[in-house]
Amino acid sequence: MDYYTPEISDNIFWVGSKDWNRRMFDALIPLPDGTSYNAYLVKGDRGTALIDSVNPGFEGELMEKLHSLIDVEALDFVIMNHAEPDHANAIKTVMDISSEAKLVTTQKGAKMAQVFYKVPEQRLVIVKNGDTLELGGKTLRFIEAPWLHWPETMFTYVQENRILFSCDYFGAHTAAGFYDDEVEDLISVAKRYFGEIMMPFKAKGAQALEKIKDMDIAVIAPSHGPIYRNPERILGMYHIWTAGKTQKKAILVYVSMWGATEAIVRSMAETLMSEGIQINYFNLLNSDIGDIARELVDSRAIVLGTPTVLGEMHPLAVYATHLVKILKPPLKYGVALSSYGWGGGAVRQLSEMLKPTKIEVVGAIEINGPASDEDFANIARLGKELASRIRCS
Ligand code: FEO
Repeated sequence: MDYYTPEISDNIFWVGSKDWNRRMFDALIPLPDGTSYNAYLVKGDRGTALIDSVNPGFEGELMEKLHSLIDVEALDFVIMNHAEPDHANAIKTVMDISSEAKLVTTQKGAKMAQVFYKVPEQRLVIVKNGDTLELGGKTLRFIEAPWLHWPETMFTYVQENRILFSCDYFGAHTAAGFYDDEVEDLISVAKRYFGEIMMPFKAKGAQALEKIKDMDIAVIAPSHGPIYRNPERILGMYHIWTAGKTQKKAILVYVSMWGATEAIVRSMAETLMSEGIQINYFNLLNSDIGDIARELVDSRAIVLGTPTVLGEMHPLAVYATHLVKILKPPLKYGVALSSYGWGGGAVRQLSEMLKPTKIEVVGAIEINGPASDEDFANIARLGKELASRIRCS
């Protein structure tokens, strides 16, 4: 097959793979639009470097692409910005063939390369923040950017081409398009990715933005999704998202068995809307967790609804609440709503689960069976209180 290996800038080629069919990442993140594993070949006058590699299963495709562009046996360097297998697993295949190539990575990356990919110590080049590597007309500068998304992560900047290779950071899970201006609604896809993957590390993300703020960046080339040849917009959004700036917005997430919990969540939604609060409404039975993660990025409040099942929260609500805990969204306020048939307890458990978070629980209502007029009146009062908090902060 003749593979497409676009020259994204002078002597820099995309040699990654499109994974159109993948539907789940890390057994956690749904991928409705597939994803891509972007790897890049940099050809200097005196040396060549492969920046990142591809997911298991795509090694053959990567090797064919490299063979079409260079003498792979003479490849000089493999740059490992991140050790997770979707970018690093194929380095084993590459380094077996490119028998003189050295692996360039951070101190922590070197340890991981030895543990995960059995790279011998003598083939490792450890770099620190600001170190450079000369390939002849191509100067690679390394920027340590830990926890984006593992502790060893770094960026690589090619000075002459003004391209920042950011690996997971600034990524988007979609197989569509090569460039940002070719994908409709890319910011929404990127926001979903940020919520799923980068939101727990937003403080580290803000530090990385600070490190690159004075750099002349013409292109951001991440390792998932399109390449930003217009990087200003995504940089602007990342400044907002990493700062945890929220909007006058509430996310309602619930599950209902016989409709009673749904009715009170719906009633809360009506009150919030009537108070001018923007809402996003998710029934866990038919919602994509990635869409919820996207809306958590800038929502100010969350309403969680669950019935009591066998004395506890519904398992789907436990899962969603746990995700809220570990994704660390910038939510300020929460409300717990529940209906039970013959024995409560869900609201108490939900409040306990939220305790380690920074979410202030503004109120919790647990009702027995379908809501009465008085219950709906209480929901409306709580909704107005929540709206007032959302507006005032
Ligand atoms: Fe795309 Fe953290 O790997």
